[in-house]
Amino acid sequence: MEGTSAPSAREAWVASQGRALSGDFAVPGDKSISHRAVMFAALADGSSRIDGFLEGEDTRATAAIFARMGVDIEAPSPSCRIVRGVGIDGLRAPDGELDCGNSGTAMRLLAGLLAGQAFDSVLVGDASLSRRPMLRVMAPLRRMGASITSEDGERPPLRIAGGRRLDGIGFDSPVASAQVKSAVLLAGLYAQGETGVREPHPTRDYTERMLAAFGWPVDHAPGRARLSGGHRLSARDIEVPGDFSSAAFFIVAACLVPGSELLLRSVGVDPRRTGLLQALRAMGADIRELDRRNGVCGAVADIAVRHAPLRGIDLPEALVADMIDEFPAFAVAAACASGTTRVTGAGELRVKESDRISAMATGLDALGVRVSETADGMVIEGGPLRGGRVDSLGDHRIAMAFAVAAQRAGGEVVIDDVANVATSFPGFEALALDAGFGLGSG
Ligand code: S3P
Repeated sequence: MEGTSAPSAREAWVASQGRALSGDFAVPGDKSISHRAVMFAALADGSSRIDGFLEGEDTRATAAIFARMGVDIEAPSPSCRIVRGVGIDGLRAPDGELDCGNSGTAMRLLAGLLAGQAFDSVLVGDASLSRRPMLRVMAPLRRMGASITSEDGERPPLRIAGGRRLDGIGFDSPVASAQVKSAVLLAGLYAQGETGVREPHPTRDYTERMLAAFGWPVDHAPGRARLSGGHRLSARDIEVPGDFSSAAFFIVAACLVPGSELLLRSVGVDPRRTGLLQALRAMGADIRELDRRNGVCGAVADIAVRHAPLRGIDLPEALVADMIDEFPAFAVAAACASGTTRVTGAGELRVKESDRISAMATGLDALGVRVSETADGMVIEGGPLRGGRVDSLGDHRIAMAFAVAAQRAGGEVVIDDVANVATSFPGFEALALDAGFGLGSG
């Protein structure tokens, strides 16, 4: 039986310089792929096995939601799920609200999927998710004929009325968002005719690739996707690669700490996820991708990183969408680089699990970094970091980014409100300690 695990009791970290980082290990499975693997396996005909499934609170919340809708999901061992699919029209009405926890991906993708069901549903989330914008998915879904309401016209909970006829639309998305694109495409599975999405910048195409891998015809290219209703999904096994967004903290830490050398195994390195590698290389990093092979959602490789001095850059706006989850780690790299780094065109960072521009600027400032915020980015002057106290605001990636920053700080860094690291990276502390981080509980 699936369930969302209780948050860790440990609420703060005390982090400080450790030793040169070393090791050869894998990070947990990709969050985006794990969510989608459960969703499509649940809707497929037959049983699918998912290996490398992320045992994070976000992805477990998605699995628990499908279990509540009548899907049998077995966990024979950690990071493995056997999903007995119920078919595209086989979901049952849940007996209460569906809790997405901290996960924007769960809520936005499910909004599309549930808009096409015969039954009513209500999607709720935690305090952070309840502040995040949902009109971006509600507006196109309503154009398709969906009935979705929210508390104040914009925020969760989302109340979705079932039994509506959906019609395909051509949607020009105003935001580069894989979640928005995916919500529309998932409603399109249940719509009459064709549903198409165009994006202002290409985003991760995992929904398109995985639907195709489960046998649903999808016409897609970077920045656009199209599908029609009326097909079926066939069960298949999925191997989830390591999450590049989790690897990013170790990649940046190894760049920053003198003498470091790390090998991170089997990480998803699709270009729509690895803008950070391009940015770090432009700053002087020594990073190699080894043994590239094909995975269900693009290339997979081992990533070898060695310490190298970094210099600041003007980040090209074209890279922003390809590193949207890596800005907390990138901001730390910029703070430890020589010279100035300027980020523009990254306003989406303000509507993530926290306002990541403000969270990073405030925290870096507390560590003595000269940093200023702009509406859609920040300017960071590289220089020495001192110890201090920072607030992760309950945002997993802010917490881990400051654990990395501490590896270059002149004193202890206390990082408050870190329990949500378990949403995306269970076991981060143990892996970080093994690799050489100075990290303990507060
Ligand atoms: C995700 C898309 C991105 C990303 C999030 C995961 C996905 O969000 O930040 O962590 O799995 O589709 P947006 O679509 O809001 O950019």
